[in-house]
Parts: sequence; C-alpha cells; structure tokens
Amino acid sequence: MTGRTTRSAAIAVAFGLAVVTAYTQTRPGAEAKPLPGTPLRELAQAEGRRVGTAVQARALERDRAYGQLVAGQFSSVTPENEMKWDVVAPEQGTFEFGPADEIVGRAHDAGQVVRGHTLVWHSQTPGWLGPLDAEELRAAMLEHIARVAGHFRGRVATWDVVNEAITDRGRLRRSVFLQRLGPGYVAQAFRAAREADPDAKLFINDFGIEGINPKSDRLYALVRELKAQGAPVDGVGFQMHVNLKGVPADFAANLRRFVALGVEVAVTEADVALRQPASEGDLAAQARVFTDALRGCLEVAKCRSFTFWGFTDSRSWIPENQPGFGRATLLDSRLRPKPAYEAVQRALGP
Ligand code: XIL
Repeated sequence: MTGRTTRSAAIAVAFGLAVVTAYTQTRPGAEAKPLPGTPLRELAQAEGRRVGTAVQARALERDRAYGQLVAGQFSSVTPENEMKWDVVAPEQGTFEFGPADEIVGRAHDAGQVVRGHTLVWHSQTPGWLGPLDAEELRAAMLEHIARVAGHFRGRVATWDVVNEAITDRGRLRRSVFLQRLGPGYVAQAFRAAREADPDAKLFINDFGIEGINPKSDRLYALVRELKAQGAPVDGVGFQMHVNLKGVPADFAANLRRFVALGVEVAVTEADVALRQPASEGDLAAQARVFTDALRGCLEVAKCRSFTFWGFTDSRSWIPENQPGFGRATLLDSRLRPKPAYEAVQRALGP
C-alpha cells in the first residue's frame, strides 16, 4: 500500500467514525442505561393499549442500546421507511423485503405488533411509476398491495393502506394516483389490501387532522363514503406531528366523531418539534403537549394504540426535514429521558 492510500484510508476511517459518533452519540455495542420507572409498554398494557415507536432497521442492527429500548419500552413498532414503495420496489417487478423482514422478525421476538407503513402514498415512490399510463399504474398499485401485504400476511397487524390523501384545504390530494386513476383509487386500494391480508386492520392515515378543520372534515366525509360503498376501512391514523402550538382542544371530540362512523382510531406518528435552540421551558412545554396528545387518545376507548415517530432525538426525522427544529422525541440524543418521557409515564400510569 502506498503512503498516500494509507493516509487517505486513515482519513476515511476517521471521517466514518466521526459520522457514526455524531449520529448515534452512544457506542454501538453499549448497553442501554435502564430508564427509571415502569416501562411504557407495561403501563400501556395495564390500560389495555399499545404504545409504539417508529424504528429503523439499520439502528436495530448496529446500536445495541437502541434495540434494547425498542424491545423494553414499546409493544408496537412501525418501520420508519423500510416498507415504503421506493424501498421495497426500487426497480419495477423486483421486491426487496430484507430490512422490513428484519424489523418484523425482531418485533415478533419482542412480543410486539407491527404497523405496516405504507402501501399507497404520493411520497417516496420509485421513479419507474412516473411514465406509467393509467392502466399500467392501476396494475402496478394492485400488484404492489398484493405482493407487499401478501408477503407480511399474518405478521403485520395494521396497514396504513393510504397515506396523506387529503390536502390542508380539504380536497383530495392531486397525487399521481388521483390524477391518473381518479378518486376511486382509494377504495380500490383498500379492497386489494383486504384481499391480500384478510386479518390486518386497514387504516387511512394523515397529518394535520387532529382537530376539527377543513382537512379532517374532508377525511371524515371520505371515510363515510368508503364505508357506505362497503370499502374495508377499519381505522383512521392521526399522525400528530405537532409543535409547541400544541394539540387542538377538540382532539378527543374529533376522534369520537370518527369512531361514530364505525372505525377505530390511533395516534400513529407523534412527535413535538422544538425550535432550536430549545430552552428548559420548551422541554417542559413539550412534555405537556405529549401529555395532552396521550390523554386525548386515552379518553377514547377505540384509540387503542399510540405510536411515537421515533424515541430518541439522535434519530428523529425532524432536524433534517424541518430545518431550525429538533429535539422532538422522548429521549435526548444520548438516550436519557427528557421531561416528556416522565410526563408520558405519568399520563399512561394508573
Ligand atoms: C419520514 C421519515 O421519518 C423520514 O426518515 C423520511 O426521510 C421521510 O419520511 N409522515 C409519514 C412518514 O407518513 O412516513 C414520514 O416519515 C413522516 C411524515
């Protein structure tokens, strides 16, 4: 090896370590420091509910402490990206389930249920969908649902069949699916999912629908229409990506109106983004927002599952996707509990 390659290899290794350290903040092989008090999953179980988190296959594989906390604290997991269309079918006609299988296998070992996320969504789709005409796209959507939900049949308890179908102004989103297939794509996706896995609970999922507003009104109308047509919709997922503006005061009332349509409800992606740098006061306010969200769900018997979109600030999607915001989860970037964690314990507790 020449001097130059040795040097550049050393630099590459040092750089790689720096990236890994910045990312995980804990040594990959280190044990998790146990969190104080009763694990969230036990508290939730005593209330007849499930508490979940989004998980990342790479983190489960590489970071022991992360895996221990997932297994110890949560009774439900949602793959954060591993079941999305661009990940499972980057090329037309090939399906790759490795990372998702890894998550599902570990969940099974830990006695957890899996929320499948997501079958039909305008975002994170593979490039090959672009040029398809209406007939080809319909066939691709139906095949995708059959193959993916079929692969996980019996191992995924719940599917987000359609994600984010409504705009903030209360219209059907002009996604590639709406534009090429027309509004009937939603019912068709649900029928295909039921056929592929008759035992999975089928959800429609969205953000910004926590309160009663034009968007949740439109979703409400859509769910009512789907039910009237006999389309197999079992539940509505409320993502709950919020900030210190808080949870709308009519959250529980909104959940109840959906329940009255004959569906379950769930909180599917809760996080509370803080403008950076966040103060101690912000962390206390964040704890109150998580408490409000959880209480709203607990008030409603048919809200049986509450999922956080990740549990540590070191792996949250917020800093990358909402510049200027961060620290949106229950544990800090070194896996230590924030005020929000203790608040959630209290809200879930007896
Ligand atoms: C996010 C993931 O957390 C990110 O890692 C990814 O880069 C983009 O998607 N609503 C959803 C989730 O339904 O799938 C999104 O997840 C967050 C918003």
